[in-house]
Amino acid sequence: MNLPPFTLERWFARYEFEVDINLCASCAPATSTDDILSLAGEQAREDYLHLGLDYIPNPGTGELRRQVAGLYHDLDEEYIQVTTGASEAIFLLMNCLFSNGDNIIVQQPAYQSLYAVAGAAGVQIKAWPLQGEEKLYMDPDALKGLIDSRTRAVVVNNPHNPTGYIMSRQEMDRLVEVVEHCGLWLISDEVYRGIIYNPPDELPAAIDLTPRAICTGDMTKPYGLGGLRTGWLAVRDKQLLSACGAMRDYTTMCNAAPAEFLAVLALQHRRELLEKKLAVAKENLARLADFMNERPGLLSYIPPRGGFTVFPRYHQPVDSTTFCRGLVERKSVLLLPGAVFSRENHFRLGLGVEPAVFRRGLELFGDYLAESDYS
Ligand SMILES: Cc1ncc(COP(=O)(O)O)c(C=O)c1O
Repeated sequence: MNLPPFTLERWFARYEFEVDINLCASCAPATSTDDILSLAGEQAREDYLHLGLDYIPNPGTGELRRQVAGLYHDLDEEYIQVTTGASEAIFLLMNCLFSNGDNIIVQQPAYQSLYAVAGAAGVQIKAWPLQGEEKLYMDPDALKGLIDSRTRAVVVNNPHNPTGYIMSRQEMDRLVEVVEHCGLWLISDEVYRGIIYNPPDELPAAIDLTPRAICTGDMTKPYGLGGLRTGWLAVRDKQLLSACGAMRDYTTMCNAAPAEFLAVLALQHRRELLEKKLAVAKENLARLADFMNERPGLLSYIPPRGGFTVFPRYHQPVDSTTFCRGLVERKSVLLLPGAVFSRENHFRLGLGVEPAVFRRGLELFGDYLAESDYS
């Protein structure tokens, strides 16, 4: 397998832990162990301290699988495979589902593993681009035009990183119709599920709409628990689950026991956690709107409908890597270049930052824009 460098993750590896302000993370502000144990109560704290640190089951503990299954409609825990982040879920799926010579259709722009893992296994990747200058949409006719006899799956990320776009119910229904009609898999990466700015935009999970869907999810994005490295895949297909579990024997075998223990508690208190994270993102979004409105000639953006990321456009004649590198080197504020999503003249901004830090990050970014002369 010849995997190309993961450009987004390499950018983070270079800067993330050195900068004063990371203004482009894609998750909620971090939750601490104490935050979770305080919500869960004294007995849970005691149990955590006395937890054995042995191996745990490859598919995940029964308790965690039940909690995850509860996020879907009428789904039994046996249809859940717990993984080391959604990253591992994607890796297992792409390797278990497809072979050399197949092709898959991937919504673009996309988080790189959603196409690169399959690409490295000899699968042809066909791009299904998000369209629209003022309002984003997916074109179902363009999708139909991409399907041929070797097509195996359509891959989407909903809510979407980096744009914050969410499919409408009508768009999702048409997509489900197409995958069912053509006998394809629908891989729906739903790590941002639940992070919605306008409740009517909330969509059912894809697995609740069609047995052809496979959903991925995680504790990282909605709850700020990336350090637990806990994610999952959900699919109503035992054969596929069993293949993924068998491949997992070679990747991570199982999660860390403390991670799954804390993940269970966090899911038991997910509404309280989500409410706080969403409030932070909304406050930052309002601040961002002011910032953008004050700079109409320099910046423009489509407000996100969900998730923790925004994908503004800048109107200077400079490539996005130079643009973002200048900011990090001069102001120690990190943005993510659009180039990592193959979209020049854009950058990704993250909303899951404490509001005081977000405000300061924008101030420094504003100074950078004022001081830079790209004309
Ligand atoms: C769309 C998307 N899917 C999956 C992941 C993987 O995250 P994790 O492995 O922490 O669950 C990310 C991380 O940024 C992402 O943005």
